Amino acid sequence: MEQLQDSLGRRIQYLRISVVDACNLRCVYCMPSNRLVFTKFSKLMSPSEIGTITEAAAEVGTRTVRITGGEPLTRPDIEDVIARVSAVPQVEDIPISTNGIYLMEKADAIASAGITRANVSIDSLKPEVFREVTRGGDISRVIAGIDAAASAGIWPIKINTVLMKGVNSDELVQLARYSLERGYSIRFIEMMPLKSNVDFQPQLFFPAMRARSILEKEFRLTPGEGGIGSGPAVNYDVDGYEGRIGFITPLSGNFCSRCNRVRITSDGRLRMCLFGDDMVDLVGMLRNGGGRAELIEKLRESILFKPERHYLEVGKTSSETLYAMSQIGG
Ligand code: 5AD
Ligand code: SF4
Repeated sequence: MEQLQDSLGRRIQYLRISVVDACNLRCVYCMPSNRLVFTKFSKLMSPSEIGTITEAAAEVGTRTVRITGGEPLTRPDIEDVIARVSAVPQVEDIPISTNGIYLMEKADAIASAGITRANVSIDSLKPEVFREVTRGGDISRVIAGIDAAASAGIWPIKINTVLMKGVNSDELVQLARYSLERGYSIRFIEMMPLKSNVDFQPQLFFPAMRARSILEKEFRLTPGEGGIGSGPAVNYDVDGYEGRIGFITPLSGNFCSRCNRVRITSDGRLRMCLFGDDMVDLVGMLRNGGGRAELIEKLRESILFKPERHYLEVGKTSSETLYAMSQIGG
């Protein structure tokens, strides 16, 4: 079985597909509040195009395909999308990233279609803070949705919390306790500068190191087995709990050397680095009559030239093109 490496020896086994750029929330760190133009449903990759791209990626070594957005559950045909990915034999693992608002209604259907596990965003457990950060979200739906996902067999569950000074920095222990007591893991994420948040990102930035020292007063943390994993999080085992606490430090600790992933944007372009603007229009190739063999060749060539790293912490803002996180899929 082919196992592609890039020119730096990084194995690329993990593909993230943003299946839709639209979202039913407007988290302040992710999207501007207005003037958003989402891709028309008819222009998004179809379930069958997503299936073909997944087959090509599997051919060059992809084993995990994460379904992201925007909010993937806003896609009316999301079950079909998942089923197409799940039908590719080499794909072993299909996690989803969701804001959880529609999980109550969708958990059973997406579990049957093939979703294995889920990451759900919760930035605050306080209803009014949650509503402010998400610009309108209802935390009680998210909590009930996560319960429904766990009941449907979607497991493990990871909670994602973006650290925000003065917004949720006083709630870190409560967020960790909520997660760990239910057997979930939680990851605290440093806010990354995007075009949509450059005005306030510096004021809200809260370093993961500070979060860790707050949490260490409440929980006994030991560096997780295997040390740092293949993903960007640095994980700790927590005495007395199954779940772990992780930190994702795009700014304070560059993890590009462990990067194991590539992305496909909601409009079907392969993006080798979250913060690199080089993209290859895979769906365009398909629509212009290209087939699987051409896709495979393009993937091989692109992966080989995956950029070494990003340079966010030295003052370079994110991508010059106006790509919100919701189009790229985080
Ligand atoms: N910084 C860090 N994480 C972000 N996300 C979106 N925008 C940002 C940002 N600017 C992440 C959040 C959310 C997921 C969908 O994307 O963790 O949970
Ligand atoms: Fe939507 Fe997720 Fe972005 Fe929030 S972070 S606006 S839930 S895509």
